[in-house]
Amino acid sequence: MSAACAAVSSSADVSDCARERALELLRVCDPFEKAAGVTALRDAVRDGAAHWHPARQFLCGDGEHEAGIPGRPATPQLVSPRELKQRAVTSVDGRAALLHALAHIEFNAINLALDALWRFDGLPSAYYDDWLQVAAEEAYHFSLLVSHLRTLGDRYDYGCFPAHDGLWDMARRTSGDWLARLALVPRTLEARGLDASPPIKAKLSSAGDKAGAAILDIILRDEIGHVAIGNRWYRWGCERAGCEPVETYARLAAQYGAPRLRGPFNLEARRAAGFDDAELAALQAGE
Ligand SMILES: [Fe+2]
Ligand SMILES: [Fe+2]
Repeated sequence: MSAACAAVSSSADVSDCARERALELLRVCDPFEKAAGVTALRDAVRDGAAHWHPARQFLCGDGEHEAGIPGRPATPQLVSPRELKQRAVTSVDGRAALLHALAHIEFNAINLALDALWRFDGLPSAYYDDWLQVAAEEAYHFSLLVSHLRTLGDRYDYGCFPAHDGLWDMARRTSGDWLARLALVPRTLEARGLDASPPIKAKLSSAGDKAGAAILDIILRDEIGHVAIGNRWYRWGCERAGCEPVETYARLAAQYGAPRLRGPFNLEARRAAGFDDAELAALQAGE
């Protein structure tokens, strides 16, 4: 830590700082070590062995802390979405590619939840508890998908197909704007996962992959919770800033180049995740 960084840290003992541990885990490259570390950190916070220290600021203006973020393994090779081959899920290779793409989303989601912890200071403890719970669930989803992928053959493991970097790209764009991060990551990109889930589950079921379809059910259940957490903190942030949530969302989506969302929307899951009628109407009007 530089002298400038030390100056913005509190003088209290911060050796048990869970936000600093989240930053360290974000830099871990091995996905399995990262996933296990996230679960251990969740347990440490739950047991009172680690604490949040919300007042600590890690950003120093010299970009020092951005080095090595996010830590990721040498593979998958990252390519533009256009370079990714579409494969029919009726073949084992096609199903493996689909499961790999989902595992890659979950790996990114672990990093996104960890980033929400260390980067943004001055928030209530409940905010940090919520995003650590999200990180732990993303780690679980990643592990479920990779375990299942491995059952398809020896040549399949995380890293065996190329992948794209769309999720982390939005994290980068919103790294200086907490409300935009909430608007565009959980409430846009994760919410899009709610829409994508039923057709992906149907594809796996039609290929006879019952275990894969069951994993999709677990992920959808948890992802409704993640989007709900995003909605809760987005509304809290709008209220604190005195801005109107629907208009503010439209402004942030335009400012940060959010992808235009297209239906069909999973309205039942979106309602369960806390989107209200005005938000769902605005979503459908923008289609
Ligand atoms: Fe997930
Ligand atoms: Fe999630």
